[in-house]
Amino acid sequence: MSMVITVDGPSGVGKGTMSQMLADKLGWHLLDSGALYRITAFAATEKGVGLEDEAAVADIARNLDVIFRSADGGVKVELSGQDISGDIRTETAGNNASIVAVLPAVRDALLQRQRDFATESGLVADGRDMGTTVFPKAPLKFYLTASPEVRAERRYNQLKEKGLCVSVVSLAEEIRERDERDSNRAASPLKPADDAVVVDTSSMSIDKVFQQMVEKVQSVIR
Ligand code: C5P
Repeated sequence: MSMVITVDGPSGVGKGTMSQMLADKLGWHLLDSGALYRITAFAATEKGVGLEDEAAVADIARNLDVIFRSADGGVKVELSGQDISGDIRTETAGNNASIVAVLPAVRDALLQRQRDFATESGLVADGRDMGTTVFPKAPLKFYLTASPEVRAERRYNQLKEKGLCVSVVSLAEEIRERDERDSNRAASPLKPADDAVVVDTSSMSIDKVFQQMVEKVQSVIR
């Protein structure tokens, strides 16, 4: 049987970092489900398809020719042979992803692809609906939260480290917009699974959050 740990929560909470650290520690695979929505939105834009054209975007999602390659210190994403790793990491790409993520047919089209990541080797699945919809039977589910201000600040520092210049105020506004869209959509809205371990990371360091998660993993998965 494949072991899955799910890590859900809103934008900028640090799920990506935590999921990667957990996967590295356990020697398990990582599913970055947000990347699939980002890639779908990117591919639609490249093809000139409107982001709200449900049938056309779902068709694109179903037929994504995408490869995730481990590269030094990260993951390289190739769409039909083209390296789009940088293109899908912008704030606009995240926002566009949340527009296509509202569409039920798009979510359906990506469902099996996400489930296929679960193999004997173990999987840490990072997203919004990993614990509620994609892997409802996962034995351990985390839901990370933090105040919108803290998340905007963290995102700001992350982008600054990459040499990108943005304002905290516009980031906070984008995060608020994305939270609203993700939480209020009808299909798989952002919310903790009933059996999720909720961790409010607002006043915790990365190391502290990680330590708490590892302790939980050790008590549940032996
Ligand atoms: O996590 P990330 O910021 O890459 O996700 C981009 C967007 O994709 C989210 O704001 C959300 O709208 C959507 N998403 C989703 N379900 C997931 C992962 C991401 O709806 N499991």
